[in-house]
Amino acid sequence: MSAFEVIIYEKQDGVAYITLNRPKALNAYSVKMRDELYEVLGAIKDDPGVRVVILKGAGEKAFCAGADLTEFLTAPSPVIARQARFERDIWGRFLSIEQPVIAALHGYVLGSGLEMALCCDIRLASEDARFGLPEPGLGIIPAAGGSQTLPRVIGRAAALEILLSGRWLTAPEALKLKLVNRVVPRAELYPEAEKLAEKIKSHPPAAVRAVKQAVTRGLDLPLAEGLELEERLARRLIAHE
Ligand code: COA
Repeated sequence: MSAFEVIIYEKQDGVAYITLNRPKALNAYSVKMRDELYEVLGAIKDDPGVRVVILKGAGEKAFCAGADLTEFLTAPSPVIARQARFERDIWGRFLSIEQPVIAALHGYVLGSGLEMALCCDIRLASEDARFGLPEPGLGIIPAAGGSQTLPRVIGRAAALEILLSGRWLTAPEALKLKLVNRVVPRAELYPEAEKLAEKIKSHPPAAVRAVKQAVTRGLDLPLAEGLELEERLARRLIAHE
């Protein structure tokens, strides 16, 4: 069981569940949440007992409604509030996890909430999910990776339209743009995530990790280097076996 205050961490049969747990504040991303996520992601990274991770939000209304506006863009200053977030590279930590991470998204998926989802490998959404990056409307830009991850996932024009217009997407629109892999009724969101986790877990863990590395690291490389990476990983896997 969890010893954290604003997240819940559970582990069952090789699946790690991280639940953002501030439902009264729509799971807004606070400094406390940052610290707890940093700790738990570090533990997951080093835990061979974790084969797949599922990230979700508590409560009916939101996965995460973005940065906690009561501590962000307020005292002592926006610059210091932002600096506090840069002190721990939570996004780098998300991206460094070798196990596949599934985001199960419902309700509001805004700002840092969407940026967190973009750091995950597979995104499942329920029909009520709404996606948006309100930062430019607040006079700032996304700084949890969103300006880089969003265009890499949905392409430059679609990302710029969302960022510049501030328009929120419905779940079907998000699906059409390939921002999410699949949209399911709300009641089926977690069973669907678990079914997928079970499927992934049924494969040898070293192969699963190698596939994730080949795709995620390879995407940042020119094709020739990506192919070299694939070959190295394939050889390492054979040696491992
Ligand atoms: N930070 C801190 N608290 C937040 C929050 C956030 N980002 N988003 C919502 N909350 C709190 C509200 O203050 C409210 O608290 P209260 O009950 O103590 O008054 C509670 O969560 C419920 O939110 P509420 O606004 O009443 O729900 P709603 O359904 O009417 O509206 C939103 C939902 C998401 C449209 C609205 O809460 C909102 O615009 N939130 C801010 C989104 C945002 O700009 N995020 C930052 C991006 S950088």
